[in-house]
Amino acid sequence: MTEVNPSLQAGQAMNMKNYVRFEFPSLPENVSFARSCVGAFAAQLNCTLEEIEEIKLVFSEAVSNSIIHGYDNRPYEKVVVMATILENQIMEIMVEDYGRGMTNIEQAMEPSFSSDPARMGLGFSLMKSFMDELNVCSQPGQGTSVKMKRCFQVKSQAALA
Ligand SMILES: Nc1ncnc2c1ncn2[C@@H]1O[C@H](COP(=O)(O)OP(=O)(O)OP(=O)(O)O)[C@@H](O)[C@H]1O
Ligand SMILES: [Mg+2]
Repeated sequence: MTEVNPSLQAGQAMNMKNYVRFEFPSLPENVSFARSCVGAFAAQLNCTLEEIEEIKLVFSEAVSNSIIHGYDNRPYEKVVVMATILENQIMEIMVEDYGRGMTNIEQAMEPSFSSDPARMGLGFSLMKSFMDELNVCSQPGQGTSVKMKRCFQVKSQAALA
């Protein structure tokens, strides 16, 4: 019997054009690897190099948060990411961990808030400023899922010529 991939099925229902989904252990060296992958994927969108850099930046902020905060830098925990390109130049990114989670999401998302006095508390602010939507779901002891969405300008073929 043919198995139906739930990601594919859900994606088709929301005008998905393409997606990539992968997981990796929470090793710090995987941040730049995953960042490059998502950047290369985002290059399929009709957007500028600067916009791709912004996507890479917010993505690596979310992945770093999973490793540093979610897993307290423990190296072999699971980080799952999914990047989706929808119709009309829309990109969605999801970063998920199964780590310590957050007790107060609103406070965590305040500009300059950090639970670590040595950090700047900039990650969520960057995600908010470069993305059009940011949704964070978190359960203490269960993990955190960060979903971001950005709508890039739809350029007509004539404008590109
Ligand atoms: N995946 C996560 N799991 C658990 N806690 C998280 C997670 N992501 C963020 N947090 C909490 O939210 C706070 C704010 O995150 P944010 O990325 O804005 O700042 P930061 O990581 O502390 O500092 P910076 O990103 O500037 O290095 C973190 O200090 C942490 O307490
Ligand atoms: Mg951060």
